Amino acid sequence: MSVLIKNGRIVTAADDYVADIYVEDETVTLIGESLDHVADKVIDASGKYVLPGCVDPHTHLDMPFGGTVTVDDVESGQTAAAFGGTTCHVDFIIQPQGATFGAALEEWRSKANGKQVIDMGYHMAVTDLDEGGTLEELASLPDEGITSYKLFMAYKGALMVSDETLFKTMEVAAETGALVMVHAENGDAIDVLVKKALAEGNTAPHFHALTRPPETEGEATNRAIQLARVAGCPLYVVHVSCQEAVEPIALAREKGWDVWGETCTQYFFVDYTFLERPNFEGAKYVYTPPPRDKANQDVLWNAVRTDILSAISTDHCAFLWDGQKTMGKDDFSKIPNGGPGLENRLQMIHEFGVRAGRISLNRMVELLATSPAKLFGLYPRKGTIAVGSDADMVVFDPDKKVTITAADQHSKTDYNLYEGTTVTGSPEVVLLRGHVLVEGDELVASPGIGQFVARARFGQELRPTTVTA
Ligand code: URP
Ligand code: ZN
Ligand code: ZN
Repeated sequence: MSVLIKNGRIVTAADDYVADIYVEDETVTLIGESLDHVADKVIDASGKYVLPGCVDPHTHLDMPFGGTVTVDDVESGQTAAAFGGTTCHVDFIIQPQGATFGAALEEWRSKANGKQVIDMGYHMAVTDLDEGGTLEELASLPDEGITSYKLFMAYKGALMVSDETLFKTMEVAAETGALVMVHAENGDAIDVLVKKALAEGNTAPHFHALTRPPETEGEATNRAIQLARVAGCPLYVVHVSCQEAVEPIALAREKGWDVWGETCTQYFFVDYTFLERPNFEGAKYVYTPPPRDKANQDVLWNAVRTDILSAISTDHCAFLWDGQKTMGKDDFSKIPNGGPGLENRLQMIHEFGVRAGRISLNRMVELLATSPAKLFGLYPRKGTIAVGSDADMVVFDPDKKVTITAADQHSKTDYNLYEGTTVTGSPEVVLLRGHVLVEGDELVASPGIGQFVARARFGQELRPTTVTA
């Protein structure tokens, strides 16, 4: 299968130029002016941007959590991703209590088999080093292409680990070349605040935020950074939501420590007041860390502009409002934590980041594709457009007006965090390794086309297996 993309404005993290791209056997083989190669498919990209397929480093598909299971499985979640211009993501395996890492990996692979629409990798969320996984087994995961370990410092009684487990995992990562990811909140303090709120009869959704103050995120972020320094491992802080967490990351990066952070699309747009919406609407915005005071939104834009934060993910963790979020109608702590977003990241960041003049087009590509690919051992196969890279590309129409609405989305959930928002600029054609996934409103490729990608260790490159010149 060969593809010729003509006259597109190719935008990578570093470059911006008009050229043609020739794709053979799933790989970009030539970039140049006025290419006249014969191809099975020719795409006219005049007036369009050609971007690298976006990489989402933080998603939760088909994941048991909060007494239920996230509503998007691999097929629906990845279909939503494809329509949004994301061609590769890294999903979380959650080690069930008492299970080995191998058993957890098998379970997650079987959930994906035959359903994959885009390429994917896995992080391993470590929950139990006592009864289930051993340090030796953890150390073997990078050989399987699972090169990041995730630890939850919150969700007491569920996913939260002790500092001992966190630190032991960091020591293993220092040995094996894996990246440690943390959900940084002080779970013990939050647990006290939640119990107190409920005892006082405060059960409404906005108490989710009031019982998880920004200081609990700042404290845990700093603790993880200092422990990672002692262990000597690289650290990635997920879903940074507020100034209190940005500050220790900024300090670490200024000092040249091996610390990186991400924020997620929703933290730029949804603020604390959304949680106060009447008739239990507020439950739609119960995710963790919670939506913060609006002032944090400028802090986050500044942090992504200046590379204090290096990536924007979605933390897609979708639940139905009607039937799943409503489990917490009388008790905010029973509302499953998480929100959707896989389909709208590129549209929203292009509109409110690039078009609003907050970040450049190159920086957008870096935040949504190149940096996640580099940090998670996918680059340069993924995250850029270059000879030898996988032909994962988005032909993006910068003039197409779209109003975002749950009625048109591909996620199975029944609401959208950005309902009614009109954006100018949207993916038109999405290619995965040269196969057309999406064309206009059509899903062209069938589930099964996506593949598991064995990722490189932190700081190492993932080289293409074949390059046909
Ligand atoms: O509320 C959230 N973010 N749910 C997903 C799990 C996590 O903490 O990332
Ligand atoms: Zn988290
Ligand atoms: Zn998450």
